[in-house]
Amino acid sequence: MTESLYERLGGTEGITNIASDLIDIHIANPRIAPRYANSDVAEVKNGAATFFITGTGGPDVYKGQDMLATHKGMNIDSGEFMAVLDDALAALDKNNVGQREKEEVLYILYSMKSEVVFV
Ligand code: HEM
Repeated sequence: MTESLYERLGGTEGITNIASDLIDIHIANPRIAPRYANSDVAEVKNGAATFFITGTGGPDVYKGQDMLATHKGMNIDSGEFMAVLDDALAALDKNNVGQREKEEVLYILYSMKSEVVFV
Protein backbone atom coordinates (compact mmCIF):
# COMPACT_ATOMS: atom_id res chain seq x y z
CA MET A 1 0.00 0.00 0.00
CA THR A 2 1.23 3.48 -0.78
CA GLU A 3 2.20 5.58 2.23
CA SER A 4 0.18 8.75 2.81
CA LEU A 5 1.70 12.06 1.72
CA TYR A 6 1.95 12.85 5.45
CA GLU A 7 4.21 9.82 5.96
CA ARG A 8 6.25 10.48 2.82
CA LEU A 9 6.93 14.08 3.98
CA GLY A 10 8.43 12.72 7.20
CA GLY A 11 5.33 12.81 9.40
CA THR A 12 4.76 15.48 12.02
CA GLU A 13 8.47 16.19 12.45
CA GLY A 14 9.19 16.46 8.73
CA ILE A 15 6.19 18.69 8.03
CA THR A 16 6.93 20.88 11.07
CA ASN A 17 10.44 21.49 9.71
CA ILE A 18 9.17 22.24 6.20
CA ALA A 19 6.53 24.68 7.55
CA SER A 20 9.06 26.44 9.75
CA ASP A 21 11.43 26.91 6.80
CA LEU A 22 8.53 28.05 4.61
CA ILE A 23 7.58 30.86 6.97
CA ASP A 24 11.23 31.90 7.39
CA ILE A 25 11.51 32.08 3.59
CA HIS A 26 8.26 34.12 3.37
CA ILE A 27 9.62 36.61 5.90
CA ALA A 28 12.80 36.99 3.84
CA ASN A 29 10.86 37.39 0.56
CA PRO A 30 10.26 41.10 -0.12
CA ARG A 31 7.29 40.25 -2.39
CA ILE A 32 5.21 39.01 0.56
CA ALA A 33 7.12 39.78 3.77
CA PRO A 34 4.92 42.85 4.54
CA ARG A 35 1.94 40.51 4.85
CA TYR A 36 3.54 38.95 7.95
CA ALA A 37 4.86 42.17 9.49
CA ASN A 38 2.44 42.02 12.42
CA SER A 39 2.27 38.24 12.74
CA ASP A 40 3.31 36.07 15.66
CA VAL A 41 5.85 33.92 13.78
CA ALA A 42 5.45 30.89 16.06
CA GLU A 43 1.67 31.05 15.59
CA VAL A 44 1.93 31.25 11.81
CA LYS A 45 4.42 28.36 11.74
CA ASN A 46 2.08 26.31 13.90
CA GLY A 47 -0.89 27.16 11.65
CA ALA A 48 1.02 26.17 8.50
CA ALA A 49 2.36 22.94 10.03
CA THR A 50 -0.93 21.76 11.51
CA PHE A 51 -2.83 22.64 8.31
CA PHE A 52 -0.49 20.47 6.27
CA ILE A 53 -0.29 17.65 8.81
CA THR A 54 -4.07 17.33 8.77
CA GLY A 55 -4.46 17.93 5.02
CA THR A 56 -1.96 15.27 3.94
CA GLY A 57 -3.43 12.41 5.95
CA GLY A 58 -1.89 12.94 9.40
CA PRO A 59 -3.66 13.46 12.71
CA ASP A 60 -6.52 15.96 12.97
CA VAL A 61 -4.53 18.77 14.62
CA TYR A 62 -5.47 21.86 12.55
CA LYS A 63 -7.63 24.22 14.60
CA GLY A 64 -7.76 27.18 12.21
CA GLN A 65 -10.38 28.30 9.73
CA ASP A 66 -10.67 27.09 6.14
CA MET A 67 -8.60 28.83 3.45
CA LEU A 68 -11.44 31.03 2.19
CA ALA A 69 -12.27 32.37 5.66
CA THR A 70 -8.57 32.76 6.54
CA HIS A 71 -7.72 34.90 3.50
CA LYS A 72 -11.04 36.71 2.99
CA GLY A 73 -10.60 40.46 2.62
CA MET A 74 -6.78 40.30 2.39
CA ASN A 75 -6.92 41.28 -1.31
CA ILE A 76 -4.13 38.82 -2.22
CA ASP A 77 -3.12 38.97 -5.90
CA SER A 78 -1.80 36.27 -8.26
CA GLY A 79 1.78 37.50 -7.96
CA GLU A 80 1.69 37.03 -4.21
CA PHE A 81 0.15 33.60 -4.67
CA MET A 82 2.97 32.64 -7.06
CA ALA A 83 5.53 33.94 -4.55
CA VAL A 84 4.08 31.59 -1.92
CA LEU A 85 4.38 28.66 -4.35
CA ASP A 86 8.00 29.62 -5.15
CA ASP A 87 8.75 29.70 -1.42
CA ALA A 88 7.04 26.34 -0.93
CA LEU A 89 9.29 24.75 -3.56
CA ALA A 90 12.35 26.28 -1.88
CA ALA A 91 11.28 24.90 1.52
CA LEU A 92 10.66 21.44 0.02
CA ASP A 93 14.07 21.47 -1.68
CA LYS A 94 15.75 22.57 1.54
CA ASN A 95 14.26 19.52 3.27
CA ASN A 96 15.28 17.12 0.48
CA VAL A 97 11.71 16.17 -0.38
CA GLY A 98 11.43 13.83 -3.38
CA GLN A 99 10.26 14.87 -6.85
CA ARG A 100 6.94 13.02 -6.61
CA GLU A 101 6.11 14.58 -3.24
CA LYS A 102 7.08 18.07 -4.45
CA GLU A 103 4.69 17.67 -7.36
CA GLU A 104 1.88 16.56 -5.07
CA VAL A 105 2.40 19.41 -2.59
CA LEU A 106 2.59 22.07 -5.30
CA TYR A 107 -0.54 20.73 -6.95
CA ILE A 108 -2.43 20.75 -3.65
CA LEU A 109 -1.35 24.34 -3.01
CA TYR A 110 -2.17 25.45 -6.55
CA SER A 111 -5.63 23.90 -6.31
CA MET A 112 -6.47 26.27 -3.43
CA LYS A 113 -5.88 29.39 -5.56
CA SER A 114 -9.58 30.25 -5.86
CA GLU A 115 -9.91 30.20 -2.04
CA VAL A 116 -6.98 32.63 -1.54
CA VAL A 117 -6.66 35.09 -4.45
CA PHE A 118 -9.01 38.11 -4.48
CA VAL A 119 -11.51 36.55 -2.07
C1 HEM B 1 -2.28 27.78 -1.21
C2 HEM B 1 -1.76 28.84 -0.66
C3 HEM B 1 -1.92 29.16 0.80
C4 HEM B 1 -2.17 28.34 1.86
C5 HEM B 1 -2.35 26.84 1.86
C6 HEM B 1 -2.22 29.18 3.04
C7 HEM B 1 -2.43 28.72 4.33
C8 HEM B 1 -2.56 29.50 5.45
C9 HEM B 1 -2.82 29.00 6.77
C10 HEM B 1 -2.98 27.52 7.15
C11 HEM B 1 -2.87 30.07 7.60
C12 HEM B 1 -3.07 30.02 9.12
C13 HEM B 1 -4.53 29.98 9.46
C14 HEM B 1 -4.73 29.75 10.95
O1 HEM B 1 -3.82 29.31 11.65
O2 HEM B 1 -5.86 30.02 11.40
C15 HEM B 1 -2.66 31.25 6.79
C16 HEM B 1 -2.65 32.55 7.26
C17 HEM B 1 -2.25 33.62 6.52
N1 HEM B 1 -1.95 33.65 5.18
FE1 HEM B 1 -2.04 32.08 3.93
N2 HEM B 1 -2.00 30.48 2.68
C18 HEM B 1 -1.82 30.51 1.32
C19 HEM B 1 -1.55 31.63 0.56
C20 HEM B 1 -1.32 32.88 1.06
C21 HEM B 1 -0.88 34.02 0.29
C22 HEM B 1 -0.62 34.01 -1.23
C23 HEM B 1 -0.73 35.06 1.15
C24 HEM B 1 -0.26 36.46 0.83
C25 HEM B 1 1.01 36.68 0.66
C26 HEM B 1 -1.11 34.58 2.46
C27 HEM B 1 -1.12 35.34 3.61
C28 HEM B 1 -1.53 34.91 4.85
C29 HEM B 1 -1.56 35.75 6.02
C30 HEM B 1 -1.16 37.23 6.09
C31 HEM B 1 -2.02 34.95 7.08
C32 HEM B 1 -2.29 35.39 8.53
C33 HEM B 1 -1.01 35.30 9.31
C34 HEM B 1 -1.27 35.65 10.76
O3 HEM B 1 -2.12 34.99 11.38
O4 HEM B 1 -0.63 36.55 11.26
N3 HEM B 1 -1.46 33.26 2.37
N4 HEM B 1 -2.48 30.87 5.49
